[in-house]
Amino acid sequence: MCGIVGYIGGGPEKILLDNLKKLEYRGYDSAGIAVKSGKNIKVFKSAGEIKNLIRIVKPCENATSGIGHTRWATHGKPDEINAHPHVSENRKWAVVHNGIIENYADIKKDLLKNGVEFYSETDTEVIAALLEFYDRGDKLEALNKTLSVVNGSYALAIINRDSEELVFAGNKSPLFIGVNGENVMIASDIICFDGFCDKYYVIENGEYGYADKSGIKIFDKFGKKEKEPVRLKCSFSGNENLYTHYMIKEIYETKDAVKNIYEYYSEPHNYEMITKHDFGKIKKVRLIGCGTAYHAALMGVEMIENETDFDCSACVASEFRYKNPKIGEDTLVVLISQSGETADTLAAFELAKQKCALTVAVINVEYSTLAKKCDIVLPIKAGVEKAVASTKAYSAQITVLYLLSLMLKSAVSGCGFSADEVINLYNQCEFGNVNNLKLLANVFQYNDKLFMIGRGKDYFTASEASLKIKETSYINADTYYAGELKHGFLALVNSDTFVIVFATEKGILTKTLGNAEEARARGAKIILFTCFDLDSDITDKFYYVIKVKDVGSSLQGVINILPWQIIAYYTSVNKGINPDKPRNLAKSVTVE
Ligand code: F6R
Repeated sequence: MCGIVGYIGGGPEKILLDNLKKLEYRGYDSAGIAVKSGKNIKVFKSAGEIKNLIRIVKPCENATSGIGHTRWATHGKPDEINAHPHVSENRKWAVVHNGIIENYADIKKDLLKNGVEFYSETDTEVIAALLEFYDRGDKLEALNKTLSVVNGSYALAIINRDSEELVFAGNKSPLFIGVNGENVMIASDIICFDGFCDKYYVIENGEYGYADKSGIKIFDKFGKKEKEPVRLKCSFSGNENLYTHYMIKEIYETKDAVKNIYEYYSEPHNYEMITKHDFGKIKKVRLIGCGTAYHAALMGVEMIENETDFDCSACVASEFRYKNPKIGEDTLVVLISQSGETADTLAAFELAKQKCALTVAVINVEYSTLAKKCDIVLPIKAGVEKAVASTKAYSAQITVLYLLSLMLKSAVSGCGFSADEVINLYNQCEFGNVNNLKLLANVFQYNDKLFMIGRGKDYFTASEASLKIKETSYINADTYYAGELKHGFLALVNSDTFVIVFATEKGILTKTLGNAEEARARGAKIILFTCFDLDSDITDKFYYVIKVKDVGSSLQGVINILPWQIIAYYTSVNKGINPDKPRNLAKSVTVE
């Protein structure tokens, strides 16, 4: 959701556009760049995809620096006027911004009274206007005064017509600065630094400053700061060229993620902060996440309850923060997030912290805000996930949550901890007969609704499968507990209805098959999804049976989701949708 890049160096237009492309995966609906060209600021903006922007950007003479932005609309529609950068009235300042200026309406009212004109509906434009309003020739003073009147979250990259510097400020929104010789890059995602530099500075809350060819000056309310850069550890380039879309590439990378998890959690220093922790006063575990991460949380509850006696439950982050949850020093709050930047999950963390709970982040982006804040960090080691629909991260989340359940068991009971079951999972991780899955995708593409039912953990897998199909194929795939069928939604079932029955839980298999029969008796076409070898007199009655490997452990959920991710992917492609960028969605949801 929104991306920032800024650059000091020759040919900024191309560098900015190339890096905006790297940020595309976060989701956006318009984009723009501003370039300092001699004594002018040249601005190019367009609605829609970056290719629209590329078409209109012209080479700028004597261009020495610039800023760029991908915008996911919050204040004002996604059009060219509201796209960033925003320039001040006299075109002296240009600003790109991630985050939300909460008091922008009041600021705008005051500035209007002072004769300042506005052109967009955005909150960001007030920053450009304030900079000009307070500009008496000292850029830091103008910035300081501007920041002193704004409330909210921001990562800001700013250029000024009269100077060579890139000005920046950060508060509750990620911002990083990389340096390569005389060239400087500012970005909201370190993915931009791949191939540019091997060290970068993290801009913390309340920090601001400027960068020029001689280096970076960072300040906070106490004055100038000396900061150490962080080493860039991961390389972000992969085998993109082998795949048409990131989504399918990332589904197939699930196996690598599982292997990485095994290797990482085989090292005692990576799990002992849990296994050696004194959980004496902890009575409850609360697992929090949004969307797919919430589905992982539901799985996590089952796993932790299976291995320990903790009172355990899951909550959607956006609900948790408004619930007055009964948590305190006796609670372990597990925050699950691929990006570590999801606004609701971060707010849930703040609440947990306020109430003195012990916090654990189950996280993919290890340099993210959530990873920096939580007491304990359990990385999921999935590697960069770019497709908006989360796939390998979900599988990695439930794998790590399973290990967390074993770590907690080890901590409270004194038994040993081993990640060996994960290597068994790796050895059995199969993607099934993809041609058959493609055939199902061919069938699904012509349906506008699908029903998915299951019991226990199968219900959670069904929920995640339905989310994948909804978001990438725009098909209304509804999930119900199988036992709920006759309590209402059976009324919707007729001979046009596909009912997908998830049946991989042995103890309740016959019950689930009974529910499949209830739907079949009303004419529904049943697709049975199971890991068991069932007699043909059962399976012959069904429209289709998808059989997956029985791994015989709590990690069955990883095997179970793979075919559904593949079906969702091909259904999307068949419908001519770009599965990497479903409409209206963003990769990292940094606003409430
Ligand atoms: C769905 C999906 C979203 C995210 C959710 C939380 O495919 O990706 O539902 O899971 O927005 O995001 P993170 O995990 O980054 O907190």
